[in-house]
Amino acid sequence: MRVDALLSRYGYCTRREAGGWVRAGRVRCRGELVDTPAKVVIPSDVTVDGEGVEFADGLYVALHKPTGYSCTHDEEEGAPTVYELVPPRWLQRHPSVQTVGRLDKETSGLLLLTDDGNFLHTLTSPKRHVEKRYEYTTAADVPADAEELFAAGSLLLRGEKEACLPAKLERLAPRHGFLTLREGRYHQVRRMLAAVGAPVETLCRVAVGELSLAPLHLAPGEWRAIAPTDVLP
Ligand code: URA
Repeated sequence: MRVDALLSRYGYCTRREAGGWVRAGRVRCRGELVDTPAKVVIPSDVTVDGEGVEFADGLYVALHKPTGYSCTHDEEEGAPTVYELVPPRWLQRHPSVQTVGRLDKETSGLLLLTDDGNFLHTLTSPKRHVEKRYEYTTAADVPADAEELFAAGSLLLRGEKEACLPAKLERLAPRHGFLTLREGRYHQVRRMLAAVGAPVETLCRVAVGELSLAPLHLAPGEWRAIAPTDVLP
């Protein structure tokens, strides 16, 4: 790949600005100063301002989303977005960095970010049924028979034509537990629990595929690099 394409691909600057970066001596290949933005290089040989190219093999990140942040690229009604929690350079990458699915503004927990379209597609494809586990608290008791109802795959949410896929409910207490889904409909956990008379009070996603939030030791707002195989071995 040409150096100007590399600098643009990884979000350092535009292709047009690349000449300035090269002339300023900011780019090296195998330790040697690069003298033209047309030089063909491989990303692992390149340093920019003395640092290796960030996420040269694709960006895979786990973020502990705090409540109050939206997952859109646009700021709706002044609400902060999760993209404000990560380094601005990531947002200049091509392909762009996206969240893998979305969490509601008031939901916290494990949110994955990537610039790898295949990874994103695999995790969000309705055919793959990747498990997502949520911890909830509710404002009313979840009835004991909800476990059976959710497991049966017969719950029809208002306005939907197809019943929810079987889901695993683990009631730890009448108003606290875990719900594991293998699909991702709009506000699904909130709507399923509301359908059994138990509006959600707090909701946190604690796992996606094989990746759990707790062992990552991330405070809300913190992120860390992961490998795609941490999620889907
Ligand atoms: N279900 C919800 O209701 N909200 C989320 O953010 C995720 C799943």
